[in-house]
Amino acid sequence: MPQAVVIIGVQWGDEGKGKIVDYYASGADMVARFQGGNNAGHTLVVDGKKTILHLIPSGILHPHAKCLIGSGVVVDPDNFLHEVDLLRKAGIQNLEDRIYLSDRCHLIVDYHKHLDAARESKKAGKIGTTKRGIGPAYEDRASRRGLRVADLYNETAFEEKLKENLAEKNFLLQEYYGVEAVSMESFMAKYREIAKKLKPFVRDVSAIIFQAIDDNKKILYEGAQGVLLDVDYGTYPYVTSSQTLPSQAALGLGARVPKDTLFVGVIKAYSTRVGEGPFPTELKDAFGDQLRESGSEYGATTGRPRRCGWLDLVAVKYAIQVSGIKNIAITKADVLSGISELKVCIGYDYQGKRLNTIPADSSILNQVTPIYETLPGWNEDLSKIRNPQDIPKNLQNYLKFIENFTGTHINLVSTGAGREAVIDIQKAF
Ligand code: GDP
Ligand code: IMO
Ligand code: MG
Repeated sequence: MPQAVVIIGVQWGDEGKGKIVDYYASGADMVARFQGGNNAGHTLVVDGKKTILHLIPSGILHPHAKCLIGSGVVVDPDNFLHEVDLLRKAGIQNLEDRIYLSDRCHLIVDYHKHLDAARESKKAGKIGTTKRGIGPAYEDRASRRGLRVADLYNETAFEEKLKENLAEKNFLLQEYYGVEAVSMESFMAKYREIAKKLKPFVRDVSAIIFQAIDDNKKILYEGAQGVLLDVDYGTYPYVTSSQTLPSQAALGLGARVPKDTLFVGVIKAYSTRVGEGPFPTELKDAFGDQLRESGSEYGATTGRPRRCGWLDLVAVKYAIQVSGIKNIAITKADVLSGISELKVCIGYDYQGKRLNTIPADSSILNQVTPIYETLPGWNEDLSKIRNPQDIPKNLQNYLKFIENFTGTHINLVSTGAGREAVIDIQKAF
């Protein structure tokens, strides 16, 4: 059994990472987020009750699990405190003893959200972001203008940095985007209050996880978004602003991952994407609408309808190549039940030539025609199946095809949104 498991999304996000993390978390001492922010929407369904988490790690419904937010995560304190409040109201106890927020996390503050929204309101260059301020916050981190959690506790320095930042941000907001400026006074008053409320959660997360690894604790790392949204390796520029690859698990928490770590990529049995950007296997027809309805494909963060399409194994194989993933969890196989023939994309036709990977210039993907393999579907209801031997023959065939095409091993098949709906082929914890 590995000491740690890193879970990442292999497509364009929303693969079902939250469900898989919640499932594995029963055997973990700690669950840690290492990148992204509250652009994520991770859905857990336990005893029929749905919980959507944006920032708090998906282990929170297991009372024994500590939940860590590493320095690679950008934190909107409004969202953090709101989520904590919702969890408290749902009866989750001792949150201050269970949620550890790194003092090195960059804050998403009001002007980041205003800038994100203002940019998105312009037609040209629209990414279709979640408007949560993710991009502007990561920009400030890289350009060394960011405000970090630790800065909240050094008021003079905070005020000084803020003054400089506001001069620049307000110029952009007012003069370039023609929207309202952010006032220094109300900003300081708001963040003074936030500093007090966040304090019980703030920790040196790097030191905590370092010690936990040394103490042989079981650690579950929770990725957000997916490889195809990675800022370098995704379908740039239609990506998020963080690194979503498994190597980010170490960087975003400030400690190595244990030697004995299992890396698991989550793949939805078909494809979805929310926001703009190329999507070769998208189905813009009634069948795409049917997939959206049967898969409840509406954004967990913004409620936007997700674009739906066939499984794109060229994109998945590429994502596996750049992330180094060898083990897979497949979700939403149940959504495909009852479809007589299933298509999977095994290549792209680009101007008469075959393309077998995702090119750096992702605009090429808008001009390709997918080359499909057609596989027979299955009609069985998968919801009660727990034993790998009971997997219907045609689903076994579909899974084998994915394994062979991508050179991976399927460890788990998820057959419903609920925690219990899992065929655990090779146990992780
Ligand atoms: P994440 O962002 O990767 O955690 O995924 P989301 O939570 O945004 O979207 C996945 C959606 O599919 C959620 O509504 C889940 O409850 C649901 N889900 C996860 N796994 C399964 C599954 O195997 N079958 C079905 N039908 N739904 C699933
Ligand atoms: P989870 O963790 C799906 C998408 C947005 C947009 C692009 C950039 O739930 O899988 P951003 O707000 O990050 O600047 O938006 O990335 N996006 C996601 N799509 N799932 C997510 O997270 C996403 N997080 C960001 O829709 O296209
Ligand atoms: Mg999601």
